[in-house]
Amino acid sequence: MTAEPLERAPDRHEHLTGTPPFPGPRHPALRAARESDLPELRRLDTEVFQEVAYPAFLLRQLYDLYAEHFLVLDDGEGRLRGYVLAATTALDRDSWILGLCVTEDRRRHGLGRELMVEVLARLRRSGITRVRLTVEPANRAAILLYRSLGFRPEQPDGGLRRDYFGPGEDRRVMHLELPRLP
Ligand SMILES: CC(C)(COP(=O)(O)OP(=O)(O)OC[C@H]1O[C@@H](n2cnc3c(N)ncnc32)[C@H](O)[C@@H]1OP(=O)(O)O)[C@@H](O)C(=O)NCCC(=O)NCCS
Repeated sequence: MTAEPLERAPDRHEHLTGTPPFPGPRHPALRAARESDLPELRRLDTEVFQEVAYPAFLLRQLYDLYAEHFLVLDDGEGRLRGYVLAATTALDRDSWILGLCVTEDRRRHGLGRELMVEVLARLRRSGITRVRLTVEPANRAAILLYRSLGFRPEQPDGGLRRDYFGPGEDRRVMHLELPRLP
C-alpha cells in the first residue's frame, strides 16, 4: 500500500464564504509526509514537544515504518505547521496515534481536527478497527479534540495510567473503535 499524495479540500469556512479562514497566512495544505520533510519535521517536533521530541533517528525510522499514515501541514513556504503520525500493527487491526501537533500560531483554526479526521479515514481504509492514544491528563485541548472525535478513556480508572512513561509521567489512554468498511 502506498500513501497517495493528498491535497487538502477547501474547508467548511471556504465553502460557505468563498474566503480562506486565515486573514493573513495561507491555510496550510494537508499532504502525506515525504522523506525530504524529515529535517523540517524534526525542527517542528522539537519546537512543539521540546525535551520530549522524537530523536532524529527515531523519527526517521517511524517514517520508514509508517509513511502511509504520516501526514503534514505544509504552508508552501518551506515550513511545516503540523503533523499527525499513526502506527499500525501487522498482526491485528490496532493502531496508535504516536504524534499530533499544530504550531502555536496556527492553533484553533481546525487544523488539528483536519489532521485527525484524515488519518482516521486512512486508517479505516487500511482495515484498522481500533485506534488508541495516550495524552497528558492535563492536556485539555487535546482531550477535548479526541473526545469530540469519539475517543473515550480506556478503562479502568478513566484511562489513567500512573508512571506510564516513567516516574511522574502519567498518561491517559483513550481509544476509538472504527466501523469496518462495508
Ligand atoms: C492539540 C492540538 C493538536 C489541537 O490543534 P488545533 O489545530 O488547535 O485544534 P482544532 O482547532 O482543530 O480544534 C479542535 C477541537 O479541539 C478542542 N480544542 C483545541 N484547542 C483547544 C483549547 N485551547 N481549549 C479548549 N479546547 C480546544 C476543541 O474541542 C476544538 O473544537 P472546536 O474548535 O469546535 O471547539 C494543538 O493544541 C497542539 O498541537 N498542542 C500541542 C501538542 C499536543 O498537545 N499534541 C497532542 C499530544 S496527545
